[in-house]
Amino acid sequence: MAPHVSFTLLALAGLAAAKTCTNFTIPVSISARQGLFKTIPVESNLDITTFSQAFTNIGQNYTKELLQDYQTLNGDYKISAKFCHPSSGSDGSIIQVLTHGIGFDKTYWDLSFNDYNYSYVEAAVKAGYSTLAIDRLGIGNSSHGDPFNTIQASAEVQALNTITTKLRKGEISEISHSFDKVIHVGHSFGSVQSYWLSALYPDNTDGLVLTGWSTNGSYVPITVASLNMHSARLNQPLRFGNASNEGLLKSLGAYASGDALVRGVQSLLKSVGVDLSSQTVWEDIATTEVVDLINGYNKTVEALDYPSGYMTWSDLTANQYAFLLQGFYDVALGLVAESTKQPVTVGEWLTIGSAPSSSSFSGPVLVFTGDHDVPFCGGDCYATGGTADSIPALSAAAFPKTNSFEAYIQPNTAHGLNVHYNATAGYQYIQGWLGSHGLAA
Ligand SMILES: *[C@@H]1O[C@H](CO)[C@@H](O)[C@H](O)[C@H]1NC(C)=O
Ligand SMILES: *[C@@H]1O[C@H](CO)[C@@H](O)[C@H](O)[C@H]1NC(C)=O
Ligand SMILES: *[C@@H]1O[C@H](CO)[C@@H](O)[C@H](O)[C@H]1NC(C)=O
Ligand SMILES: *[C@@H]1O[C@H](CO)[C@@H](O)[C@H](O)[C@H]1NC(C)=O
Ligand SMILES: *[C@@H]1O[C@H](CO)[C@@H](O)[C@H](O)[C@H]1NC(C)=O
Ligand SMILES: *[C@@H]1O[C@H](CO)[C@@H](O)[C@H](O)[C@H]1NC(C)=O
Ligand SMILES: *[C@@H]1O[C@H](CO)[C@@H](O)[C@H](O)[C@H]1NC(C)=O
Ligand SMILES: *[C@@H]1O[C@H](CO)[C@@H](O)[C@H](O)[C@H]1NC(C)=O
Repeated sequence: MAPHVSFTLLALAGLAAAKTCTNFTIPVSISARQGLFKTIPVESNLDITTFSQAFTNIGQNYTKELLQDYQTLNGDYKISAKFCHPSSGSDGSIIQVLTHGIGFDKTYWDLSFNDYNYSYVEAAVKAGYSTLAIDRLGIGNSSHGDPFNTIQASAEVQALNTITTKLRKGEISEISHSFDKVIHVGHSFGSVQSYWLSALYPDNTDGLVLTGWSTNGSYVPITVASLNMHSARLNQPLRFGNASNEGLLKSLGAYASGDALVRGVQSLLKSVGVDLSSQTVWEDIATTEVVDLINGYNKTVEALDYPSGYMTWSDLTANQYAFLLQGFYDVALGLVAESTKQPVTVGEWLTIGSAPSSSSFSGPVLVFTGDHDVPFCGGDCYATGGTADSIPALSAAAFPKTNSFEAYIQPNTAHGLNVHYNATAGYQYIQGWLGSHGLAA
């Protein structure tokens, strides 16, 4: 059966009393020094596979190969954000800025699944913090752009830095005051960018919480290979594409919901004499790319209209390999993640490893990574051959001036931390750590 998100009125009332949130977009003007890449074919799924092959080939550095020059990108963009704060008492003078990783958007931090039981924001607000979760530049409801030469890591870091400064100066009209301290909390590529910001502007952050992160780039290739990336607009045509998908929309018409698709496939199978239960058909469809044809589609929500050059993993099986630990996450939540996933650009992949090699940030740094993380630990954060406590622990070398560094390894958890059963205990650990490092709300 299709997963259902259930709420109880009682719990909703309780939560409503705890946190108040608003959505808005923040205009940013940025100037970013970044790569000028040679464009390559990215129209078809096979083109994207060809990109993945070149990108993961051990004999070549594809970033170097495609890099023609550097250029300065100047532009005005909008960043979509969700601001939350405790409903009673003051908003406090400390805010956590939350930056999502590849495959997610700002909703990663405040998942409504199971009565917000997986929400990082709930834990942070309960501890007294305000939070601002953003859609990274290029993704979700933030401005989209050229997937080669606009949407790269460097431009995204500049947008994050601009927003940070606006928070300090009280320049975001929807927020009635300024903040004295800004803590940067990232996940994965969002941690790469939070770290990067601390390297460029060490005085513009007061604390770093880098979840799903290490400085070890050795496992990017197996991750990219496992994602089996396809063109976003072909993978979820109704959600990621645009009006030119009208034909497809019409032909899928009757099947544009999970249950209808199951019934359709069931009757198709019946017509050739195969009788399968809807449970079997659902399990079959839900874990293959077929379901992505209609996944996340909602007639009343405007399609995201990503151009070619934005790509996404093929289906939930690829998502599990790179992000999730079987047995320690709710498959129903995995399906929600699949139906709300977001893409990644060519330019982002080409620049994901281009952060400065060290940061002169002098405040506290917490690295918080799941023990089974694939992208940053190769599936086992403890596999150092005895050279260190963990792979993330070796990231201390990137922070020569920090007054406090800790690498915490969250048990029974893979890369997509917030999607695992024990996520909440992890959030509480993080809030406690902030409190004991001079950053209590
Ligand atoms: C903010 O946007 C999200 C995503 O569309 C939505 O679920 C949520 O209800 C909105 N919240 C508010 C307070 O408008
Ligand atoms: C690949 O090339 C880019 C651009 O020249 C460079 O910044 C990067 O460090 C190289 N990566 C490796 C692993 O050598
Ligand atoms: C929330 O999580 C807790 C502990 O992980 C669990 O006991 C509880 O049943 C969950 N609640 C919901 C609504 O899923
Ligand atoms: C579709 O989106 C609308 C508006 O955001 C929402 O009210 C509705 O519940 C959504 N429908 C489904 C099936 O998710
Ligand atoms: C993005 O914007 C659309 C249209 O304004 C809205 O329906 C949707 O809920 C927004 N999604 C998020 C994640 O903010
Ligand atoms: C839809 O997207 C494609 C690919 O980016 C583009 O060529 C086409 O012009 C778009 N059509 C509309 C109606 O926006
Ligand atoms: C990543 O960690 C593994 C295991 O400790 C190590 O063998 C490898 O050299 C590291 N790679 C980098 C780039 O640090
Ligand atoms: C849940 O997470 C907390 C905080 O990291 C940890 O202390 C605890 O051992 C974890 N529990 C399980 C069952 O993994």
